[in-house]
Amino acid sequence: MSRRRILVTSALPYVNAGIHLGYLVEALQTDFWLRFQRLRGHEVRYFCGDDTHGTATMLRAEREGRTPESLLEEMKAAHVADLVGFGVVHDHYGSTHSAANEAFVAEIWSALRAAGCIDEREVTQFYDPEAGIFLADRFVVGGCPRCKSPGQYGDNCEVCGATYEPGDLIDPKSAISGAAPEERSHVHLFVRLEEFHAFLEEWTQAPGRMPPETANWLRGTFLAEPLRDWDVSRPAPYFGFEIPDAPGNYFYVWVDAPIGYIAATREWCDTTGEDLDRWWRDPECEIHHFIGKDIAYFHTLFWPVMLKAAGFQLPKAVHVHGFLTVNGEKMSKRKGTFVLARTYLDHLSPEYLRYYYASKLSSRVDDIDLNFDEFVQKVNADLVGKVVNLASRTARFVKGERLPATYPANRDGGLFAAGAAAGEEIAAAFESLDTSKAMRLVMGLADRANEFVESREPWNLKKDPARAQELLEVCAIALNLFRQITVYLAPVLPRFAEESARLLSLDGGTSWADAARPVEGAIVAKFQHLMERVDPEKVAAMIEASREAAQASEVEAAARGRAGGSGTDAPALAGEPLAPECTIDDFARVDLRVAEILEAKAVPKADKLLELTLSLGGEERRTVFAGIKKAYAPEDLVGRLTVVVANLAPRKMKFGTSEGMVLAAGPGDSELFVLSPDSGAKPGQRIR
Ligand code: 2FM
Ligand code: ZN
Repeated sequence: MSRRRILVTSALPYVNAGIHLGYLVEALQTDFWLRFQRLRGHEVRYFCGDDTHGTATMLRAEREGRTPESLLEEMKAAHVADLVGFGVVHDHYGSTHSAANEAFVAEIWSALRAAGCIDEREVTQFYDPEAGIFLADRFVVGGCPRCKSPGQYGDNCEVCGATYEPGDLIDPKSAISGAAPEERSHVHLFVRLEEFHAFLEEWTQAPGRMPPETANWLRGTFLAEPLRDWDVSRPAPYFGFEIPDAPGNYFYVWVDAPIGYIAATREWCDTTGEDLDRWWRDPECEIHHFIGKDIAYFHTLFWPVMLKAAGFQLPKAVHVHGFLTVNGEKMSKRKGTFVLARTYLDHLSPEYLRYYYASKLSSRVDDIDLNFDEFVQKVNADLVGKVVNLASRTARFVKGERLPATYPANRDGGLFAAGAAAGEEIAAAFESLDTSKAMRLVMGLADRANEFVESREPWNLKKDPARAQELLEVCAIALNLFRQITVYLAPVLPRFAEESARLLSLDGGTSWADAARPVEGAIVAKFQHLMERVDPEKVAAMIEASREAAQASEVEAAARGRAGGSGTDAPALAGEPLAPECTIDDFARVDLRVAEILEAKAVPKADKLLELTLSLGGEERRTVFAGIKKAYAPEDLVGRLTVVVANLAPRKMKFGTSEGMVLAAGPGDSELFVLSPDSGAKPGQRIR
């Protein structure tokens, strides 16, 4: 097989949010595939970076009183550290806010201009007269026109799922300032996609280009009728690249986001001396994008048009995965199932999640569910119970000994040869992204290897010195089967594969072909603990920590004027919408009281929580857990007056029950400011 040259990308994470378990589905699926390709000997490069532009970044930087650049730098470092923590290592991780990206955006733009497919026309949009900003749909909030739920975004209703235009909302308001938006017109630039209809028809429907579900969806929807023009400009102010020949207008974030894939490659070329054209203008190079189903539209309609117009190589494949649910539901901040990568890593080994995701993923666009009970059970049963067990119950009998110079193939019941023969089927499963099948096949090999060990009972052989040779042989077979399995698992569990190789004193990189070559004459090293069982208590602690982090962000959100997070889906946008308008009667239902902080103490094992004992006047005492540990030393709070939501339903937490909420302002963590009344106020007095 000739050596393939493969360029791989995962979707660029938005700079405004932390890496979470949902994004890791994609990053890990990409990583499994590219590590597999490397084991097969192909030349593979992996590029990604932060997706930085748009109104959300601009507003968040403003709110935090800093430059967007400093925000971008901090978030990028955090993203890279989180991904590396899961073993996801890019050849280069760039940013769409880079000189390289700006240059490619300009190049592609002038190619689109030269192709004569750019139009201009007026667009009427909501405008926030106080903030002086045109409002994207997500920045308008109001009542759902269908179910009347208040506080819905301008594009769809989170309660009933209706989709609509922001103008359809009942009593729309700007999410930025709360002002009533006005309709205003501005000239926008459009790409006439219809000119590329025939090209897209052919490109999207080519076999293997994308999952059949996605190709059929495109054919049945967008491609079934003339393609609508794509609005690619946004009027100032907008955090992005100004359009070179249309001053005062900026490229819409989705123009420069995918171009970031090329820019990241360029930056890598600049440091390595590689030739960009070898990767982006050479039909010999295979470009593979990994994305979620929600952004298939951008990668299969707009992106190929931009590449084609500017003469870049088109992707060979766009691999599309579904969403992640946790315990059968959308990830929920309130339930603690919205888990950030960092929180996971604080509690559990990345290899557990790598294996679990691999065992769930296939080439289909189906959603996958992370069920924590199954997670514990599967990792413990498969990895610890089957794979590690194979080594742990044989290696110790032959520690420091040399394996036979020739593998005893005639004594293993054909197991090693059968395992080697399975290599192509396992490889085909990896190649087609059917890692769940690959994992099933590998666990089948582990089952048979364990049956072999049980039938030969090395622990009994050990008792009889006359059978030392037989013991060595049985262990050599078991350890070779173990080694074969770890080679097949290496794309998913690279660190485990490396540590396992050390057990047989193997150094140097593993290759797929190693699975067909028995290890002969090697010294067996001391068995090191390769993997611990998953402790369900650690899973529970991770969920609690996630809930706690969400609670701390609720404190922040409340301080910014929004009544807590919605308890669902994605991380909060910068410039979170204001809560829906409330009446004086609504407000009267919230019982805000002056409270005196009698005691404050850190909650052990909780990063953000302090436990406060409050006096609400007289004998009335409350215990409140507040997410302010990073901002206050407990002793500085004792004796202070503050404001508490006194009629909040008690909330049971791991550490106790919280009987209210203390109000604080600020962006969060170390920047939080507990509210206090002026002097003279007394504990228990109602705030009105
Ligand atoms: O949906 C998202 O999270 C986007 N930030 C993905 C961008 S992918 C690419 F086009 F840059
Ligand atoms: Zn609705």
